[in-house]
Amino acid sequence: MKGLKIRKATIKDLDVLNHIQTALLDDERGKYTMALPSEKKIDTMRGSRAKELLQSKDAVVMLAELDGQFVGGVYGEIQPVEDDVGWAKYTKKGYIGWGFVEPAYRKQGVAYELVQEVLRWFKLRNIKLMAVSIMHNNKAVQGLMKKFGFKEYIVDFRAVMNP
Ligand SMILES: CC(C)(COP(=O)(O)OP(=O)(O)OC[C@H]1O[C@@H](n2cnc3c(N)ncnc32)[C@H](O)[C@@H]1OP(=O)(O)O)[C@@H](O)C(=O)NCCC(=O)NCCS
Repeated sequence: MKGLKIRKATIKDLDVLNHIQTALLDDERGKYTMALPSEKKIDTMRGSRAKELLQSKDAVVMLAELDGQFVGGVYGEIQPVEDDVGWAKYTKKGYIGWGFVEPAYRKQGVAYELVQEVLRWFKLRNIKLMAVSIMHNNKAVQGLMKKFGFKEYIVDFRAVMNP
């Protein structure tokens, strides 16, 4: 998109993270019938966790702006690979935690550019394995990640019982 600027968020962007948190919650409410995952999933943006994230050397939030106005953001974090049986080829993974683009700017390549920057950031840190968890019905993110060569790996089944 013409004029789009991508930059790394800093501690001065706490308000932007709050905005993303609210917008993501609004977006997800009603979409996932089994349980709203958001409260936990996006606690990375809340209060002290948001500060921690913005100051961590292992995490990054990339922001997209047009004329200085927030348009979208994507979060990535270097995480250890769980390896109970000692088979894992890699000890660390680049995990993409959440992404959001303002509705008016969707389908114009903003998220693509943001993810590309997060992947570059991982590459500079020599991370080879990338991971993302996507809700089964979120076709937008599935399509987005497939463009980068991501493929389905674990299929996570759930059931709510004994209510
Ligand atoms: C998911 C989201 C971040 C995508 O942002 P975006 O800027 O519109 O995505 P892009 O324009 O960069 O799209 C890149 C690719 O993703 C896929 N894609 C994006 N939106 C799509 C949609 N609505 N349906 C199907 N595929 C889609 C396409 O493959 C697209 O490539 P193409 O345009 O060449 O077909 C945006 O829709 C969003 O903020 N959704 C609500 C929040 C959300 O679900 N976040 C993820 C979970 S935390």
